[in-house]
Amino acid sequence: MHIIAIVNQKGGCGKTTTAINLSATLGQQNARVLLIDMDPQGHASLGLGVAGAELAGLYELLKGEYRLDEVIQSGVTRGVDLIPGNISLAAAEHLLAERPDRDRQLAQHLATLEGRYDCVVLDCPPALGLLSVNALRAADRVVIPVEPSLYSLDGIERLRETIHLLASQYDIQPSVTLLANMFDVRTRIARNMFEMLESLPTDLCATRIRNSVRVREAACHGAPLTDHAPRAPVTGDFRELAEELLGSMLQRVRSEKAQAIEMQPDNPPAARKVDETHNLKEVVFRFDNTKFKRVQIAGEFNNWIPDDKDVETEIRDGSVQKKLRVSPGGYEYRLVIDGVWQQDPANPEATPNNMGEYNSLINV
Ligand SMILES: Nc1ncnc2c1ncn2[C@@H]1O[C@H](COP(=O)(O)OP(=O)(O)O)[C@@H](O)[C@H]1O
Ligand SMILES: [Mg+2]
Repeated sequence: MHIIAIVNQKGGCGKTTTAINLSATLGQQNARVLLIDMDPQGHASLGLGVAGAELAGLYELLKGEYRLDEVIQSGVTRGVDLIPGNISLAAAEHLLAERPDRDRQLAQHLATLEGRYDCVVLDCPPALGLLSVNALRAADRVVIPVEPSLYSLDGIERLRETIHLLASQYDIQPSVTLLANMFDVRTRIARNMFEMLESLPTDLCATRIRNSVRVREAACHGAPLTDHAPRAPVTGDFRELAEELLGSMLQRVRSEKAQAIEMQPDNPPAARKVDETHNLKEVVFRFDNTKFKRVQIAGEFNNWIPDDKDVETEIRDGSVQKKLRVSPGGYEYRLVIDGVWQQDPANPEATPNNMGEYNSLINV
């Protein structure tokens, strides 16, 4: 499980933008992602359309009022769960200061999640207090977004010193990367700035995030760029960033996705509901006599992760059944047939999705 802290004590350099869009990009590529909003301003929550102020989040977890499972909001966008943040986090510095293991609190919680996520993304507050120190101690990667201004260079120096100090004090060695954000290739200041960043002793991402009005638009809509502007060039910048930072993890996820279940069904799939226990209903998708070899199912009921652990597959007499248990309601889903995402050919109920295609609909 990779833990990536997006850190910079300077506000407005793109921490939250990077945290949201890196998470959403990874989630869209089938990685299982947990985004943690560590800023009392709760912008990562708002930017994903989640009203952090009304929900228990990181502060309540750190305080011990809620368990980890109780503060995780599942599937805020495809593949991404969120621990919200809100103004009560302003009191977290004080709370943490009184703990004996005050810099390890977050790391201890995250250790219990091993195996559940491929990646945890930490959106840090604009201060180098105990919350950021907790993030730095938990992280194996640190990304420092920088916008092109001279003030940001000054801040980077202090941040580097802090990270260096923490690293020697605690014997940790996170990889630290600067990320040029709001980059406008047409302006000389941005080009000069990039050269200056390149000359620093800290690594610099080859990927640059361009300045784009789409970023602010998406934030206003409470949606990640993958939903708001899937084809915009800036969305592509975040895809490139994900590949640069986590290429090998994404490769592993892709090959896991490709290893679907062998089957010899003949008919197009059909979906129907069967049984009810404890408020959850069992849904059975049956695939008979189909022309394809492998089928997986991904939808709102399993966080869009094809055949995640809650989907039971049974192969019987040349037909394949996929069983899952969901609470009553309407769900969008798609099938992954021989590795290709598509709507269920046997289900006429469908709704357009953000990719210009269709998701099938099931009412349970
Ligand atoms: N690449 C970009 N292009 C255009 N606007 C951006 C870009 N990155 C961030 N912004 C905008 O700049 C502002 C600050 O970004 P934000 O991610 O909230 O920074 P931070 O979390 O470091 O305070 C926000 O209004 C955001 O929409
Ligand atoms: Mg922020």
